[in-house]
Amino acid sequence: MRIDLVTALPDIVKGPLETSIPGRAQVKGLLDLRIHDLRTYATDKHRKVDDYPFGGGAGMVLKPEPIFACIEELKESGEAIDEIVFLTPDGELFTQAAANELSMKKRLVLLAGHYKGVDQRVRDTLITREYSIGDYVLSGGELPAMVLVDAIARLLPGVLGDSSSALTDSFQDGLLDAPVYTRPADFRAMLVPEVLTSGDHRRIDEWRDEERIRKTRQRRPDLLAGEEREQSD
Ligand code: ADE
Repeated sequence: MRIDLVTALPDIVKGPLETSIPGRAQVKGLLDLRIHDLRTYATDKHRKVDDYPFGGGAGMVLKPEPIFACIEELKESGEAIDEIVFLTPDGELFTQAAANELSMKKRLVLLAGHYKGVDQRVRDTLITREYSIGDYVLSGGELPAMVLVDAIARLLPGVLGDSSSALTDSFQDGLLDAPVYTRPADFRAMLVPEVLTSGDHRRIDEWRDEERIRKTRQRRPDLLAGEEREQSD
């Protein structure tokens, strides 16, 4: 899969995406991640990528020209782009279902907005999807773009060592994950649940299922409500 990440602040994203799972996905040749600096597409001599909002108000707005120039160049190179995603707090909530869906695409462009936002004409004509990573405002779309890259990269076939581990994650089937333990079985008199050391895999699976439902009901009843609605449809 290829991901082109367009940002006015490439230094924020470069280091972190070279390490961990996205880094491993790139080393394995499963993810072709390219970071594009919006400033290189600026047309004026000061390499300005933002300007004051028409009508007044606080904050700066990303100008349309560098974004159009960058994305038009991307469209002309390589294979067809499946989605052009803009990260914004007023976008649709990014969920595991969205990560699963995007992980099946061949090529994505992610646009990280900065400052006050981006000129609406970019959103109206270039962008095909808009995602928020949660109901809070960050100073830019760089961290949210990294969240998407990480969530997508770990789903690409062959990226995780144990191919089943992404499937058992919290949210993957609408439930939170069960508690996990490792050695020692007795740590300061805090014991690992007996069932996990029993070697009885049927009982272990049953215990995990029960724990997942119990934890989801306690912490995220909204997830169960969604399930129950879907089942009655
Ligand atoms: N940009 C600023 N805050 C954001 C958020 N919560 N999600 C996506 N993009 C953002």
